[in-house]
Amino acid sequence: MSAPPFTILVIPGDGIGREVIPAAVAALQATGLPLRFQEANAGWECFQRCGEALPPETLDAARRADAVLFGAVASPSHPVAGYRSPIVRLRRELDLYANIRPVFDDPPSGDPCARRVDLVVVRENTEDLYAGRERVEDGGATAIAERVITRRASERIARVAFELARARRAARGASDAPPAKVTLVHKANVLRETCGLFRAVALEVAQAYPDVQADEMLVDTCALQLATRPERFDVIVTTNLFGDILSDVACAWGGGLGLASSANLGERHALFEPVHGAAPDIAGKGIANPLAAIGCAALLLDHLARRAPPDIAPAIHAWSARIQRAVRYARTVGPHTPDLGGDAVTSEVTNAVIAHMLTT
Ligand code: NAI
Ligand code: MG
Repeated sequence: MSAPPFTILVIPGDGIGREVIPAAVAALQATGLPLRFQEANAGWECFQRCGEALPPETLDAARRADAVLFGAVASPSHPVAGYRSPIVRLRRELDLYANIRPVFDDPPSGDPCARRVDLVVVRENTEDLYAGRERVEDGGATAIAERVITRRASERIARVAFELARARRAARGASDAPPAKVTLVHKANVLRETCGLFRAVALEVAQAYPDVQADEMLVDTCALQLATRPERFDVIVTTNLFGDILSDVACAWGGGLGLASSANLGERHALFEPVHGAAPDIAGKGIANPLAAIGCAALLLDHLARRAPPDIAPAIHAWSARIQRAVRYARTVGPHTPDLGGDAVTSEVTNAVIAHMLTT
């Protein structure tokens, strides 16, 4: 258990990361909780300036921090000697094996046809095709990537998903609330060894959770179901690449990328980041939607509350809930940045969220 003040390492990164992360920090500062902020560099611009995408001092500071707040980095799609995406590396170095991406919609109240989307994609974060085992053969005419799936990683990510489904069911409270459900997503009909192992291990883990319904779905079917019947899902658990793609599909129901927040969790470390990237098309214009980043501040506090001493944990948890309510309010009522159809700038939305969280 950590003791306050909690150290938050802030890595704004590139592009709009530098515009939305200050909004999240402002929301955290407004709580008055005992948080200490430290800033560090990483990303493409950092690489161009100092030759390192993730300087050792940033990695050290991330290891020491109670939580990391990460913006976004711009990674070139063509290979650049010496450059590796710092976020992929941070996830691996800190063993942040669980990527948690919640999505909920906010239908207008009283609309009987309104969908109730309230789901979480739990994505394995350390292996699969992202293990970085790529090579070329035939003098560059053939490119090969190895897909790595292990029993250990499959087991621990499945456990996170079942625990989360159980906790979400408990939070829903009412006896007529929907049961806890985990959908295992794979492509074991084709990828018999890799997806086969993931599926078998996840089904084994399911045995230990008789109170949670477990079903399974092929990844292509899941993509269609997420696009057409998102209300049927509770917790989805899947491998790294599938989870990356499916969580972007799912976030369309939550107001798009400008609202999608995520947590990267391991046994010892935790990193919170908006799902979106550096958005070079709008960077520098001051119009990036800060709600995804501010939502990360709420996830971060929720995480700290679970580890904080009992005298302060309830206050931290209450601030997390307040920030989430303020984000929902800003999403519904505004002001809205252009991605949500408005003409507000980042600072107006940030100020509105902070005003709401301090006054309600
Ligand atoms: P992106 O998420 O940066 O942008 C996609 C589209 O969504 C753009 O039109 C952008 O303007 C819009 N958008 C994203 N966030 C927004 C926000 N908060 N408010 C308003 N509009 C928003 O993805 P893209 O364009 O594929 O990638 C751009 C760069 O970001 C690339 O270099 C990529 O490698 C990097 N990237 C980094 C990630 C990370 O650091 N975790 C994740 C995804 C992409
Ligand atoms: Mg992605």
